[in-house]
Amino acid sequence: MLEIRDLRVHIDGHEIIHIDELDLPPGARLGLVGESGSGKTMTAKAIAGLLPAEAKVSGTVRFDGNDLLALNDAQFARIRGKRIGFVFQDPARSLNPMMRIGRQVSEAIRLHTDLKGRAITDKVVELLTQVQLPDPASLVRRYPHQLSGGQQQRVMIAAAIAADPELLIADEPTTALDVTVQAEILRLLISLSEERQMSVLFVSHDLGVIRYVCDRVAVIYGGHVAETGSVDDVIDRPRHRYTSALLAANPGMPKDDDFAAFMGQRLHTIPGSVPAVGRFPSGCRFRNRCGHASAACASIPSPVTGADGHRYSCWNPGGED
Ligand SMILES: Nc1ncnc2c1ncn2[C@@H]1O[C@H](COP(=O)(O)OP(=O)(O)OP(=O)(O)O)[C@@H](O)[C@H]1O
Ligand code: SF4
Ligand SMILES: [Mg+2]
Repeated sequence: MLEIRDLRVHIDGHEIIHIDELDLPPGARLGLVGESGSGKTMTAKAIAGLLPAEAKVSGTVRFDGNDLLALNDAQFARIRGKRIGFVFQDPARSLNPMMRIGRQVSEAIRLHTDLKGRAITDKVVELLTQVQLPDPASLVRRYPHQLSGGQQQRVMIAAAIAADPELLIADEPTTALDVTVQAEILRLLISLSEERQMSVLFVSHDLGVIRYVCDRVAVIYGGHVAETGSVDDVIDRPRHRYTSALLAANPGMPKDDDFAAFMGQRLHTIPGSVPAVGRFPSGCRFRNRCGHASAACASIPSPVTGADGHRYSCWNPGGED
């Protein structure tokens, strides 16, 4: 579905992202997790073709056989919003405050499908029903400020899935919402992905949320993939020392049942802060914060791939597969 190879993003001469290899299989939900500033949003934007104008991007992002980075704007426009949908962090800022809800969703349908007239109106109601909004027939006449944050995010999701995309990119879609609403929206995303066989690239700084939503995960640090694999391998059997540090900072990682209880807790951070762009150490980027660093860590660690695509780049890995 999505195959990323040697994806690099440079801004102002600094390499902000270098993803050597990352795959999202069809129908899977892949989480991108890491501390603030680790490069999750930049990676999602590079895939979506939504990087700022000053960014230079190279490598390949193969989506269903096409290299997205080789498409021109017109070609990308036929994929973005149609075959790849997006949901971002803050629904209030993503919705147009002057436009009724029905119109916002119908614009997405008009732009990305062949439906016309009455079929569009019917589709709006169908989508609002699918995202479990109450009384869609009257909701379409309301403006965004007349909806709660959770309802606004459901509207954004309805617009994002209007054209039945094969891939949904969701960047911290629940961070702006209160805890109980977060859990509802996450459940909605999981059920839509299962019903539609829709792949999801899910960005979060929260390993508990990733464990709940995703089947695969990539731990990002300094714009690199430190470790990737199934959620069970990476969270229960971490090899990279950055992953274990993130987990150690967040004890009591919940299994599914405890998720709601866990959601109120804040994410704890690893001692020391993420260096600014251009200030990472050479070799392993985590070297200046790692309790296991050795002389070897001054060189870039070679990736090791184990069973089920469990892949990590660390000279002194913890645990065993
Ligand atoms: N427009 C920009 N110009 C220059 N640098 C940028 C720009 N946007 C982001 N960066 C830098 O790129 C790095 C990665 O940022 P990114 O937004 O991807 O982080 P993130 O993992 O999404 O963090 P958060 O959890 O805070 O959302 C950061 O160091 C950030 O300062
Ligand atoms: S390569 Fe070295 S510095 Fe980097 S995480 Fe592994 S042990 Fe720590
Ligand atoms: Mg971000």
